[in-house]
Parts: sequence; C-alpha cells; structure tokens
Amino acid sequence: MLQVKIEPLILVIFGASGDLAKRKLLPAIFDLYHQEYLPENFVVLGVSRTRWTDEQFRDDVFFHSEFMKLDEVPDEVKTSFGDRLFYQAIDTNSMEDYRMVKDRLDSLDTQFQTAGNAIFYLSTPPVLYDKIPEYLAHFDLNRKPGSYRRLVIEKPFGNDLASAKALNISLKKHFDEEQIYRIDHYLGKETVQNLLVTRFANGVFEPLWNRNYIHHVEITNAEEIGVGLRGGYYDTSGALRDMLQNHLMQVVAHVAMEPPISPSATSIRNEKTKLFESLRPIAETEVAKYTVRGQYMASRIRGETVKGYREEERVPADSKTETFVAVKFFIDNWRWSGVPFYARTGKRLPTRVTEVCITFNQPPHTLFRRQQEMFESANNQLVIRIQPDEGLLLRFGMKVPGEGFHVKNVGMDFHYSDLSENNVPEAYERLLLDCMKGDATLYAHGDSVEYSWEFVEPILDAWKNDATIPIYGYPSGSWGPEVADNMIEPGVLSWRNPCRRLTEDTTCCEL
Ligand code: BG6
Repeated sequence: MLQVKIEPLILVIFGASGDLAKRKLLPAIFDLYHQEYLPENFVVLGVSRTRWTDEQFRDDVFFHSEFMKLDEVPDEVKTSFGDRLFYQAIDTNSMEDYRMVKDRLDSLDTQFQTAGNAIFYLSTPPVLYDKIPEYLAHFDLNRKPGSYRRLVIEKPFGNDLASAKALNISLKKHFDEEQIYRIDHYLGKETVQNLLVTRFANGVFEPLWNRNYIHHVEITNAEEIGVGLRGGYYDTSGALRDMLQNHLMQVVAHVAMEPPISPSATSIRNEKTKLFESLRPIAETEVAKYTVRGQYMASRIRGETVKGYREEERVPADSKTETFVAVKFFIDNWRWSGVPFYARTGKRLPTRVTEVCITFNQPPHTLFRRQQEMFESANNQLVIRIQPDEGLLLRFGMKVPGEGFHVKNVGMDFHYSDLSENNVPEAYERLLLDCMKGDATLYAHGDSVEYSWEFVEPILDAWKNDATIPIYGYPSGSWGPEVADNMIEPGVLSWRNPCRRLTEDTTCCEL
C-alpha cells in the first residue's frame, strides 16, 4: 500500500501522440489510477503537434488503444479516467505556442483544483530537450511558489560526453537538479532495486561481496529481436550508447556501489556517483583488447529467415554500427581492486534475458580433484535474474550420492512468480509514482550520467578513429561474435549463456 500521499497534480506529456506515450506511459498511468494510487484531483494534459481534440486523444491513447487492458475494467472507472485526459496541439518548436500550454494549465488547475503542481514529461525526440524547458521557463511554468514543478526526461541524455554536459547545463538554466528526473527504465525494474536488498539486507552475501571472494562479475543483456523499424535511430546510436552507457551501467552501479548510509535518494545517488567515478577508463590504445563489437547477420532461426542488420530498413548497407558489444573493465577502489567486470549486450541473440552472474573464487585447495572424471569446476555462482523469470539462483557443488567424492554443480533458486500475491510492477508505474512523490532515488543524477559517458567515450573514439579494430559479423540467434566467448579465461571460464527460464540448465534455449 502507498505510504506517501500523492498531492493533486497535472501531468503534462510532451510527445503525447507518440509511440512511448501510447505504449508505456498512458497504460502505466491508467494502472496507477485503477489501483487508486492517484489522487482525486489529477489530470493528464497531452501536448503534441498532431491536430487532435480532447476526444480524439482519449480515443487514440485510451478507449481504443491496443495497449490498454480494459476488458475487465468497470465502465465508471473508464469514464472517470477518460474525463481526466486533455489535449493541446502546439508547434513544439514555436515559443509563442507555449502560451497555449500555460492557458490550458491555468484553466485545468482551476477546474480540477490541482494546487499548481505539475510534472512536465518530455517523451519527445531529444532535439527538443533544450527548447521545451526554455519555452516553459519563458512563460514562468518552471517554478510556482508553494507548488512543485518537475521535469522528466527520457534517455538519451546526450550522444557523447560533450553533448551530455551541454544538456545538463541547458536544463539547469531553467530547472534545479532537484526538479530534474532523468528516467532510466532499468532503475524502475523491481529486480534492479532488489540488488540492493540482496546485498544490504542479507548477512550471508555482503561479507563475500568484494575482491577477496569474487573472481569476476558478468552482466548479460540479450534481446531476441532486431532493430525492427528503429533502424534510423539505432544506426546513429549502436549498442554501446543505446544500452550499455545507461541501463547496464546503472545495473553495474547497483552491483558494485558501497553501502549507502540510508535508503534516501541523496545517499544512494551519492554512492552511485562515487562508483561511476571509480570506473577505470579504457585507454584508446587498449580498446581492441578490452572490447568486442559485432553486427548481426542474416540467418535462419526456427525455420524462418531473419534479415541481417545492414538489410534492415533505414540502415546503410555499409553501416559500422554495432548491435553487440562486450566490454571488460575494472573498478579502481578498495572493494573491487583487481576484479574484472564483463558486460555485454546485443540484439538478435538466442533469447531475451538480462542477468548478473557473480562468480566466486574457488576454494584455496581442492580436496576432490583426484576424482577427475566426475569433478565439475567448483566456481560457485550467484545469478541475479533481472528479466524474465525474475529471481535468484545460487550454484554450488554437491556430492553425487554413492561411492567416492564426486562433485556436481547444482542450483538453488527463488522465483518472484512464487510470491503469488505480489505482481512485479511495470517499471514505468513505479517511476512515475516516485516522481509524483518527489522521490528521485530511482532516477539518474546529472553527475553520474556524465561519469558514465566519460567511461564509454574512449571506446567510441577508438572505434571511430582506428580502422583496424574489427566489427565482427555474428549469425542472428547466436551469442554474438565468437571472440567474445574468450574474453574471460579462454578454455577455462566463459560467459554463462542463460535461458529464458532461470535454471541451472543453460541449454534449453539453444537453437
Ligand atoms: C531501450 C533501448 O532503452 O531499452 C532498446 O532503446 C531496448 O533498444 C530496450 O530494446 C530494452 O528494454 P527492456 O526493458 O525490454 O530490456
């Protein structure tokens, strides 16, 4: 149940006729409304270029949206939510048009008694991230004494370090850091938050969570899908910018940060910023050694032919944009000195899965190695599954019943789905609710965004400047370029290639 009361408010969504608003935001807002998390005095004002009326907006994003699950919703709930949706068409590039936003806000505020509180959610192309805050400020919409005004922005927060810094400077001209909520939807995932509970609420794990016991850490993010219709955007981005710089680095921060002094937004964000500051930059000359990049190629998967990346719509036939990246890196601090971290992400891999796998050191002396033929490598592992089949799996060695001491790896697992009374909430629901409460814990701080760009920048530079660094083709449906398999300890330890289901068995998703 909700512990903090949500104050009356108007949620203004820029880019309201776009894909994200329809697919993710409105369904999340409706779920919150339906579960009675939102106050009586609550309205949504959609703003976009599309020339819609309030009714057309309501129909498109709510009553007739394929993304809304309305079948079992009572009519009165649908009607009362629909009555809270309003729309204002403007030319988002024209400062003068923001007067219409102001007038609309004022009249809705009076009509619904929303106490002057407003959240401006920028679900727009990033080129508007400079303009919208400036134009809002021009009409004094960025601040209102006695009320709150907040700005939510979606990634990408810049395209490189310089543009990320420029964006932060430009946002902070009109909004204070405390008013800015940079959304990284991975932080809204229950299982990413659970990383902190796993580490800091359990006596059994935290003592082991350091260089003395941990051999290495892997973070795998795999997607089965290709770039689909997003080729135009994706080709200017690539896997490093699209997934690793933001989502995966946030996961790294949760795995590796020091214990915060309290669960407050400031303490957690401070520890994360310190962690990002401790990432050892990869020198441009070392990029070929520490990274592998790849691009998916056409292949037949389960009897179907899938296109290669260069054949996708709006992707140039000679594109060098990576759809797979694997990086080895170190964190230069007391806890992690000498422990390698490996992170990889890719499209058109065998399955959709994201997980963290902590591999522990072997015991100092292996008593049972003489039983060679039955001895499985006894590196214990803790697997933290982010999605799907969210949960934890601990892998350890067991004696095979019978004569001698034959050792076999087994798994002990917990699945969130076993908590039948608790649904794993959608990331956007959690994040929107937090923003309404004024809790920025699960939002990215401007400083950490810059540190994370600082880390990936030399990789981007080396890939751009050094033509000798290969971009490997990999067959769609494989685990990426073969060279990436040998990054950990060639012939001894490789990545855990997980299945969709969280199990000890890693062969059930093999194609
Ligand atoms: C987005 C990326 O931020 O995250 C997409 O732009 C990617 O390319 C998506 O597919 C993955 O999110 P999730 O929650 O499905 O893992």
